[in-house]
Amino acid sequence: MSTAKNISNNPSAGGMDRREFVKSATAATAGLLLVSPEIAFGSRANSTPQLGMIGCGGRGTSVSEAFVTRAGVRLHALGDLFQDQLDKAKAKLDELNQSQGHATIDASKMFKGPRSCNELVSSDVDIVLISTPPYFHPEHLELAVAAKKHIYLEKPVATDVQGCKKIQELGKKVEGKQSVHVGFQIRFSPEYRELTRRIQEGAIGDIACAQGYYLAGDLPRKAKPGMSPLEAKIRDWAFDRVLSGDVLVEQNIHIIDWINWVLKARPERVMATAGRKVRTDIGDVQDHFLTIYRYPGDVRVGFQSTQFLTKWADVCLRFFGSKGYAEAHYNGNVFIRGTNEWQAEPPPPTAEKQKPEVDPLSEATPEKVKAFVESIQSGQFHNQLDQGAESTLSAILGRQASYEGKEMTWDHLVKSNQHWKTDVELEKLT
Ligand SMILES: NC(=O)c1ccc[n+]([C@@H]2O[C@H](COP(=O)([O-])OP(=O)(O)OC[C@H]3O[C@@H](n4cnc5c(N)ncnc54)[C@H](O)[C@@H]3O)[C@@H](O)[C@H]2O)c1
Repeated sequence: MSTAKNISNNPSAGGMDRREFVKSATAATAGLLLVSPEIAFGSRANSTPQLGMIGCGGRGTSVSEAFVTRAGVRLHALGDLFQDQLDKAKAKLDELNQSQGHATIDASKMFKGPRSCNELVSSDVDIVLISTPPYFHPEHLELAVAAKKHIYLEKPVATDVQGCKKIQELGKKVEGKQSVHVGFQIRFSPEYRELTRRIQEGAIGDIACAQGYYLAGDLPRKAKPGMSPLEAKIRDWAFDRVLSGDVLVEQNIHIIDWINWVLKARPERVMATAGRKVRTDIGDVQDHFLTIYRYPGDVRVGFQSTQFLTKWADVCLRFFGSKGYAEAHYNGNVFIRGTNEWQAEPPPPTAEKQKPEVDPLSEATPEKVKAFVESIQSGQFHNQLDQGAESTLSAILGRQASYEGKEMTWDHLVKSNQHWKTDVELEKLT
């Protein structure tokens, strides 16, 4: 039977322009394709997909670069609270658009201020990339869902329990209608996928326990002298608990999501502690966490993080099983030792290269972005909101246990219906 799934997996699609492929596949299967190009990309079915980015900072710009250079998408609109952020992103993305033969971003598609997300989602973009600080994710996702856009939402999906529940509700709304990705790019790294497949197929036997750590350096300060306290707080959102979700939820979540992925489960309970000992000059987030998660099947996972190191850093996850152990580092050293030995290419880096990058492995984000765009073009829409909410709640569970200094269960957390409200009033920004 010729279903859309069969079509999108057809190796003959490889050498053909994707839109041509979707068009010819549509004709060939006389309506058996689950979605028409019009549904995928509106009335401009035969033109290049148009991306709008809300939150023009470091991460959004780098994901946009992958959209433009690796997935055949044009950067069409930008939204941000601040003009300098818009200008910086425009300069870089205009250059990238032009390198691919696309027009630059028109001045009428630059949206500034607290309502920039509303304006951007109402414009003629096909895909919305949400790369604002985590606190705003539920609100911005809701706007993009209502505008019927396909959406790439950066992680974490929210900073509190109510936010995660909202994401889950929105997940039900988009199911089968819009494609939505959440920014856990590790799941699309070819090396990590292969490692996970091998572990799940028994390469290290029964998993007994695991160890993870995210030992990272401090983050740059972005506020400049002369900025109001309100503006400084937004610029330095990563140091604010309510805007960021704290380090375990904002940064370490990549490893917690990865544990959930490998174990195909979410934690049942956690014991945790955290402190603020070195980076005390700014904000109210912790600078280190220590957690012990308990997963189904009595699998215990110790996870530790720091965010103040200098000169050395490492991010790693290690699973111990009855037939060996599997280990993966952000620097690309990914392997299995024991009965079924395996080493991912490229070979392990030298000691000087032990520095975690924003993108763990260089192909992870491009692979994810390509899979997302293909899901739209093929009509096999992805919906990662439930999984994104589950990983965010898993991180929130560890954070709350550390704040409250006691063991906490998943059920207790979810029932708590915890809600955080910022004192930041965006309308007061001048
Ligand atoms: N997947 C990854 O590996 C990865 C890496 C880094 C960051 N992130 C995530 O990406 C998101 C952005 O992080 P970043 O490092 O790019 O931060 P950033 O500070 O560099 O960029 C955020 C941008 O959003 C703008 N902004 C803030 N509030 C806004 C609002 N209400 N409306 C419109 N614009 C607003 C800011 O002015 C800024 O330009 C966060 O969720 C972060 O956790 C993901």
